[in-house]
Amino acid sequence: MRKPVIAGNWKLYKTKDEALALIEELAPLVAGVTNVEIVVAPVFTVIPTLVGALSGTGISLAAQDVFWEEEGAYTGEVSPRMLLDAGASHVIIGHSERRQYFGETDGTVNRKIKAALKGALVPIFCIGETLNSREAGETFKVLERQLKGGLEGLSETQFAPVIIAYEPVWAIGTGKVATDEQAQEAHAFIRGVVAELYGKNAADKVRILYGGSVKPENVKGLMSCPDIDGALVGGASLKGSSFASIVRFGE
Ligand code: PGA
Repeated sequence: MRKPVIAGNWKLYKTKDEALALIEELAPLVAGVTNVEIVVAPVFTVIPTLVGALSGTGISLAAQDVFWEEEGAYTGEVSPRMLLDAGASHVIIGHSERRQYFGETDGTVNRKIKAALKGALVPIFCIGETLNSREAGETFKVLERQLKGGLEGLSETQFAPVIIAYEPVWAIGTGKVATDEQAQEAHAFIRGVVAELYGKNAADKVRILYGGSVKPENVKGLMSCPDIDGALVGGASLKGSSFASIVRFGE
């Protein structure tokens, strides 16, 4: 019932030519896949370059961040309107690297989600606990705080397009994937918080992606969990062959 989403977060990798080469490799490998939504998130400067290459492939473009104002004296920022203009349809918001290195808080994440939705972009809203929080037994507390903080003031209708990504910080780029049980437990909890905020219907519909060391070898197990609706993939999305295997997890 929930269409899976497989999104590649390219982070600070791939120039224009490298990105085009990656799409040239990836597109034929995922041609004909219609049961999975495929998204790639290159750096800002590469978004317009990929529009042509992706047309007709069914692959959507995401940005990795966005600012909350439409325009103004905000040196260095990029607004939802400008992302849409560049060719993006989705935007990753609140990635743990943004929270860790660039001072993002639940408050800034909330403003960005609202701005993205107002600008007709689909937010991929990232949450996840650090190793310290997990070891202190605070995983659910952190997830609940991040969810409620990030979604504050959004109505059920506004929330409807939002995609959530659960990314335990200790699993990102470390090769230490969460076990299927750990991931499923967190996803079920997240869906429960969405039910509390917006009701059962919204909770049944929301796609919750898992992120953190997803690879072709572990994606099947993760995707067989009832509350896991896709993946946000970093390292393994930088190669067409591995990302395509992840997209084709069900085959
Ligand atoms: P990883 O990154 O797949 O390299 O662990 C995931 C992410 O940061 O979105």
